[in-house]
Parts: sequence; C-alpha cells; structure tokens
Amino acid sequence: MHKPPYTIRDADWDDDRLALTHVRRVVFMQEQGVPEALEWDADDAVSRHFLAEDTDGHPIGTARLLPDGHIGRMAVLPFWRRRGVGTALLRHVLVAAHDAGFPAIELSAQTHALGFYERFDFVAFGDEFMDAGIPHRTMRLEF
Ligand SMILES: CC(C)(COP(=O)(O)OP(=O)(O)OC[C@H]1O[C@@H](n2cnc3c(N)ncnc32)[C@H](O)[C@@H]1OP(=O)(O)O)[C@@H](O)C(=O)NCCC(=O)NCCS
Repeated sequence: MHKPPYTIRDADWDDDRLALTHVRRVVFMQEQGVPEALEWDADDAVSRHFLAEDTDGHPIGTARLLPDGHIGRMAVLPFWRRRGVGTALLRHVLVAAHDAGFPAIELSAQTHALGFYERFDFVAFGDEFMDAGIPHRTMRLEF
C-alpha cells in the first residue's frame, strides 16, 4: 500500500516543545492572529501532545488531549493541508483517548472546521461563541 509522506507520534511537552510550538506559532499566531498570551496556557504542561512529521522529521501538525478529555490545538501547516495529515492526526488522538478510557470527547471547533470533525461523527451543540476573536462551536463524540 502507498505509504503517506508523514508519520504521527505521541509527543512530549518538554522534549518536543520546539516542534510543537513551531507549528502552533505558524498556524494560530501568524495565520490566525491569536495573541501569544492566549496561545500558551497551563493546559500544555498537563496535556498529552501529538505531532505529525514529514519524512525528514520536520514538524507539520499538532494536537493535544487534555486530562478532562478535550481535544485542542489541532493544526496542520498550510502547505500540508488537504493531504490527510489532519485526519491521520485526529484518528491517532481518538485512539489514544479511547484507550485511556474516556467515554466521550469534546472540543471547541472553529466554525470553518465543523465539516472536518463531522467526518469523525462529532456533533455540534450549543450556540456559537467567540474565542481569541474566532467563532467556535462545541462538538462532542460519544465512543
Ligand atoms: C482543520 C485542519 C487541522 C485540517 O487538516 P488537514 O490536514 O487539511 O485535513 P485533511 O487533509 O485530513 O482533510 C480531510 C477532510 O476534512 C475536510 N476538511 C479539511 N479541512 C477542512 C476545513 N477547514 N473545513 C471543512 N472541511 C475541512 C475535507 O472534507 C477534507 O477532505 P478533502 O480534502 O477530500 O475535501 C487544518 O485545515 C488546519 O490546521 N487549519 C487551521 C487551524 C485550524 O483551524 N484548526 C482547527 C481548530 S478547531
């Protein structure tokens, strides 16, 4: 079978911080204008982190799983989008969450990305709200 030109792995906030923060800086701070003060928070130190890397080991995508079962900071570098990286990353995080025993997963989806999460059977609920100046909705997936 064709091997994708990237891999997904568990990451560590201390050991992989440069790689994780590079992707988040490019996507959330530079592209989406999220202020630095909002991008880094206390959840980073206690979350499980996940990294997509190209075949040279360069970081191309990130996600994190909070101790309460929320997924966040899903990001893929612009050049790598629409090539399945986000799907592979989210699939990896969902397996990790399922294996950890969470009965359900929630996330705050930027409204433009609702369709991305709906493909995994996440369902949006509640009103739209603003976070870091970006419209969001809460979504939930029951395992
Ligand atoms: C959302 C994001 C992580 C998706 O990553 P990706 O690697 O492009 O996703 P995939 O290639 O696996 O996409 C799979 C499918 O999801 C859907 N999809 C992807 N991005 C989408 C988007 N922004 N809106 C709606 N559907 C989307 C498409 O149907 C796509 O299939 P297609 O390419 O055959 O049409 C990426 O667009 C991104 O980093 N965006 C900027 C940061 C962001 O908004 N993160 C989400 C925060 S909630």
